[in-house]
Amino acid sequence: MNKTFSIIKPDATKRNLTGAINNIIEENNLRIIAQKRIKLTKSQAKGFYVIHKEKPFFGDLIDYMTSEPVVVQVLEGDNAVKNYREVMGATNPENADDGTIRKKFALNIQENSVHGSDSDENAKIEIKYFFRDEEIVG
Ligand code: CMP
Repeated sequence: MNKTFSIIKPDATKRNLTGAINNIIEENNLRIIAQKRIKLTKSQAKGFYVIHKEKPFFGDLIDYMTSEPVVVQVLEGDNAVKNYREVMGATNPENADDGTIRKKFALNIQENSVHGSDSDENAKIEIKYFFRDEEIVG
C-alpha cells in the first residue's frame, strides 16, 4: 500500500464533476483517505507548482488554478502513484487513452481536470503541502 496526492482542478469542480471523478478513482482500487475542497491562494498555487516557475505557461496555470475551488485528496492503494497516473491519462487529453479521467473530462492541456503526483517522493511532499498527519485517516 502506498499513497499519492490528487487535485480535482477548477475546470472539473466548476462542471460539478467531483463525484464522477471520485467514482472512477474508487472503481480503480484507490481509496480516498483524505479530502478537502479549498480555494487556492496565488501564493499556495505558486508554491505548489514552483517546479514550473520558468515555464511559459506558469502565469496562466496560476490564474487557472486559483479561478475556482479545487478538491485536494490523498489516495491510497497498491502502486498508488503509478495506478493513479494511468487512471488520469496523459497530461494532454488529445493523447489520453480511452477510459481515463482526462480523456473523459479534460478540456485541453491546461484545463486537464486532475493532477496526480509523479513519484513517491513528490507524493510525500505534495501531501504535506496540504494535509496535517491527523487529517489523513486510512
Ligand atoms: P499537472 O499534471 O498538474 O502539472 C502541471 C500543469 O500545468 C499541468 O497539469 C497542466 O494543468 C498545466 N499545463 C499547461 N500547459 C502545459 C504544457 N504545455 N505542458 C504541461 N503542463 C501544462
